Amino acid sequence: MAGVASLSKQLCSAGSVHMLSAVEQSMHRCLAMPVRLSRGPTRKAMLFCAPSIALGTSFLGGAAAQGVASVGRVAAGGGARVAMVAGTAVDTKEYVAQLRGAKEAVRELITSKKSNPILVRLGWHDAGTYDAEQGMAAWPKCGGANGSMRFKPEQSHSANAGLANAVLLLEDIKQRFPQVSHADLYQMASAVAIEIAGGPVIPLKYGRVDAAEKDDCVVDGKLPSGDPESTHKQSPADHLRKVFYRMGLNDKEIVALSGAHTLGRVYPDRSGFGKASTKYTENGPGTKGGQSWTAEWLKFDNSYFKDVKARTDPDLVVLSTDGVLFQDPAFREYAEKYAEDEELFFKDYVLAHKRLSELGSKFDPPEGIVLDAQAVSPTPAASNNGSNGPVAFSAKDYYSEASAKTSKSDLSPEMKEKIRKEYLGFGGSPDTPVAGGTNPFVVISIIVAVLALLSKAIGAI
Ligand code: HEM
Repeated sequence: MAGVASLSKQLCSAGSVHMLSAVEQSMHRCLAMPVRLSRGPTRKAMLFCAPSIALGTSFLGGAAAQGVASVGRVAAGGGARVAMVAGTAVDTKEYVAQLRGAKEAVRELITSKKSNPILVRLGWHDAGTYDAEQGMAAWPKCGGANGSMRFKPEQSHSANAGLANAVLLLEDIKQRFPQVSHADLYQMASAVAIEIAGGPVIPLKYGRVDAAEKDDCVVDGKLPSGDPESTHKQSPADHLRKVFYRMGLNDKEIVALSGAHTLGRVYPDRSGFGKASTKYTENGPGTKGGQSWTAEWLKFDNSYFKDVKARTDPDLVVLSTDGVLFQDPAFREYAEKYAEDEELFFKDYVLAHKRLSELGSKFDPPEGIVLDAQAVSPTPAASNNGSNGPVAFSAKDYYSEASAKTSKSDLSPEMKEKIRKEYLGFGGSPDTPVAGGTNPFVVISIIVAVLALLSKAIGAI
């Protein structure tokens, strides 16, 4: 506290004009900082900002030191090196340019081919192999969103039947934008596919490093089975929990993510499930045939929950792992809500999907690269089933909810060290841990800075 008191004295003394202007500058920078950073950088930026105000140091300099690669900073600074495949390095600025180009190309591809469902499934199957117990220390062997789906051994896994087509679909874009990692491309395609289908904007972060070789693939059997009673002698609820808990996901996320089955179909010649064709699928669009979960299977909405609940249409499929969402009491709580409230479904879906997309991902820079979440301009629906185009509410909702959940443990070691140094620098006890979001020094520093500004404004200084 002595440190704070003396700081306060310095700020309020008549001779502190220089310091005050530094304080003002820092505050302005903080106020002007981008609001659409991913949940990590946003939180980190805020935590870093307050001590920097108190010390009169530049926030932006600190953020740069952290390698927080928001587009604005990259454009201004550029030059940082990132590794997109283990052992290679590319320029961050160039990477951002390639990401933007790839995103537009993905958008065109999906719009013309109506390939939304298979690309969502590709992203999910690349990420859904993650084993949280092994964790990132075992990367890339822990599985997850690391681009290993491009290797034949993984494509040949039983759950991945048909996904070689999705990998091929994206190969041309990969050739045109070679610096974009496969891992980023698969997650990007999935998120764009959902958005184009009328679903929420999923504010992804990029910079995933690719697993380098086929030996990095996980063993078969990591993804859920659509008939676990036969394949694993497990009830559908037990099976879902076993598989998704292994990834570190929870019941709510299981139910929300299952809602992705509002898109697409099961094919007897791929997974072995469903009918060869129905009145909803006999004419495509895109590939003909298969059996969908919903009538408008190129439209992302909450009809999956309504249809699985009703189970009245013989032309719609319900796997045992879908049906259990309305049988298991804990799952049902969410499934019922999502059937009633599409906005809630979208909100929870965005959070769950973003988590899924980062499972097992090694980011370079560690904080990832954030493109503007709203950068993809709304377009007419790509779906011919009456989609209304992207729903843009989610970014705002996502950031408010995500930042509330982010804890100090999400900070990088460098950031923790930086905050600690600043904390000690103005009188914090070395024996007292720095409290994450409720750091009293941070709060006091802000108050002191605001008081100093007010004093200046009314001419007291
Ligand atoms: C909950 C456990 C899950 C099971 C048991 C499951 C099972 C299946 C099966 C059997 C198919 C049919 C594949 C084929 O015949 O080509 C399929 C398709 C699909 N799955 Fe899942 N899935 C699950 C979760 C998810 C999740 C979490 C997502 C996305 C976040 C997802 C997205 C999709 C999509 C979009 C399709 C349609 C693909 C197409 O039309 O080509 N699934 N799923």
